[in-house]
Amino acid sequence: MKPNPINGDWVLDGFLLNNHNAKIVNSMHTFAIYTAMENRICKLFDIQYPIIQGGMIWCSGWRLASAVSNAGGLGLIGSGSMYPDVLREHIQKCKKATDKPFGVNLPLFYPDLEDHLQVIEQEGVKIVFTSAGNPALTTGRLKAAGVKVVQVISNTKFAKKAQEAGVDAIVAEGFEAGGHNGREETTTLCLIELIQKAVQVPVIAAGGIATGKSMFAAFALGAEGVQIGSRFAISEESSAHIDFKKAVVAAQEGDTRLSLKKLMPVRLLNNAFAAKVLEAEARGAEKTELEELLGRARAKKGIFEGDLQEGELEIGQVSALFSAIQPAATIINEIVTDYRRAVDEFKSF
Ligand SMILES: Cc1cc2nc3c(=O)[nH]c(=O)nc-3n(C[C@H](O)[C@H](O)[C@H](O)COP(=O)(O)O)c2cc1C
Repeated sequence: MKPNPINGDWVLDGFLLNNHNAKIVNSMHTFAIYTAMENRICKLFDIQYPIIQGGMIWCSGWRLASAVSNAGGLGLIGSGSMYPDVLREHIQKCKKATDKPFGVNLPLFYPDLEDHLQVIEQEGVKIVFTSAGNPALTTGRLKAAGVKVVQVISNTKFAKKAQEAGVDAIVAEGFEAGGHNGREETTTLCLIELIQKAVQVPVIAAGGIATGKSMFAAFALGAEGVQIGSRFAISEESSAHIDFKKAVVAAQEGDTRLSLKKLMPVRLLNNAFAAKVLEAEARGAEKTELEELLGRARAKKGIFEGDLQEGELEIGQVSALFSAIQPAATIINEIVTDYRRAVDEFKSF
């Protein structure tokens, strides 16, 4: 970004801003998207746009991750639904499908954790987003292997712990998000600012972000990158079942709900299974009953096999905005274009 020598306005890749707006835009780090090297997230991962596709069970295999990385974002393979040998296969296929950086999402509570770590090390993966567990147990080991480590958190306490553990960045995920959520139910709007004030490492905002406008809002709050799940879950390259994608496109406001708070809170699309959970929770069902009701492989049944009634359909509130199943590259291009328009149209009151 340079001042125009003639009238003092700021010029950004052909965008003209008056001095006042430029200062605000500058202070919000929003200019960074025009000059990738000035954005800490772009720099950290060597990517063009600070847009990360969140790791998602049954959705984000090598096809989606490589498509996002090829389009200038950062694609993540979701290891949570993969046996170690399947993860290895996806990493190897992803390497063949893109020469751009990509990473692996590693939920820390899964029993295969040690085997997953070994696959990541053996395959030379250089970016890992850990979630749902204690990053102190894995961050040192990963960093020693030259891996950039990011931890997903949903409150200030865990953000500080992740920073202490030595992570390179933090994903602050609000309770609008699809998948597992924090018990505090802090929304993304409140969370980003809280976390950004509590830590020095860059903050990536997640939860309810799917458009250029919401990315702009996240940057205004201090985020330096965004992690998007739900919109990519229904992309063409997502391995989710087509019926799941169609159900998400059809979803309206109020069609998702945070469920199973006594186990691990998860945001689900309303269906017969979610109604059974709701009924059990309303009469105060204990953890063991909820565990039995959940059973095994519910998310696979819903997301991957397309059982829209008995499956667990993980998706975020932002699904109410979706109207189409699109290629990942189109999603990235739309977000970047809309973001730039939002920056350009931004007016101070
Ligand atoms: C279907 C689905 C599966 C998900 N699985 C995981 C997962 O395995 N690991 C994880 O860290 N986050 C998971 N998430 C969360 C996403 O990575 C991301 O942080 C979240 O979707 C962002 O919020 P949004 O849905 O509003 O975009 C999942 C989300 C969805 C929608």
